[in-house]
Amino acid sequence: MTQDELKKQVAQAALKYLKDIPVIGMGTGSTVTHLINLLADCNFKADIEGAVSSSVKTTEHLKKIGIPVLELNQTGDLDIYIDGADEVTPHKKMLKGGGGALTREKIIAAASRKFVCIVDESKCVDVLGKFPLPVEVLPLARSYVARELVKLGGQPILREHCITDNGCEILDVHNLNILDPVELEKTINNIPGVVTNGLFALRGADVVLVGKGSEVITL
Ligand code: 5RP
Repeated sequence: MTQDELKKQVAQAALKYLKDIPVIGMGTGSTVTHLINLLADCNFKADIEGAVSSSVKTTEHLKKIGIPVLELNQTGDLDIYIDGADEVTPHKKMLKGGGGALTREKIIAAASRKFVCIVDESKCVDVLGKFPLPVEVLPLARSYVARELVKLGGQPILREHCITDNGCEILDVHNLNILDPVELEKTINNIPGVVTNGLFALRGADVVLVGKGSEVITL
């Protein structure tokens, strides 16, 4: 199976988590794109009252298939949030933000009772950090934050031609070997000018579905 086929397979397996849930939280990325495409044709689509979206891209896609997009301020906490990841550990800690939507993703994840992470097997790692860690920054703080990230042992590179949905920029931090993701998530978020970083360790996933060969494994 190709990586894209594995993404579609795991998205198919995630559908059941959305059944009988009136308001769902929806992530961003190519795996989630498969999930939304599958939702378009599933028999319980009409029962979904609406979705809280983590990005402009996801919002457009949800609207295109006829699912109303709701504001988190109006819905209150959600029963479920489904999203992909760039890396995930056996402890269900994740590194996310390859698609640049990390801040809204983290907010919706925090406001959700269950986080279901959907990945193909290439995303499973023992230690986070091989994938460069995205850090969303206020543009005026970019250089200062980059210097602070160097002090932490990383090599930050500005993501070119990228302005996030929040009007901010992203530094992709290379060469981090993240042995304590909870501590690093807090440390980076404490740097003035950081909006948030792509470590999802304080609030990890509750369930991880992994597309692997011909099967989907549940962690
Ligand atoms: C977007 C994300 C995505 O979940 C992550 O990049 C995985 O994307 P894909 O499903 O395309 O592999 O965090 O900000």
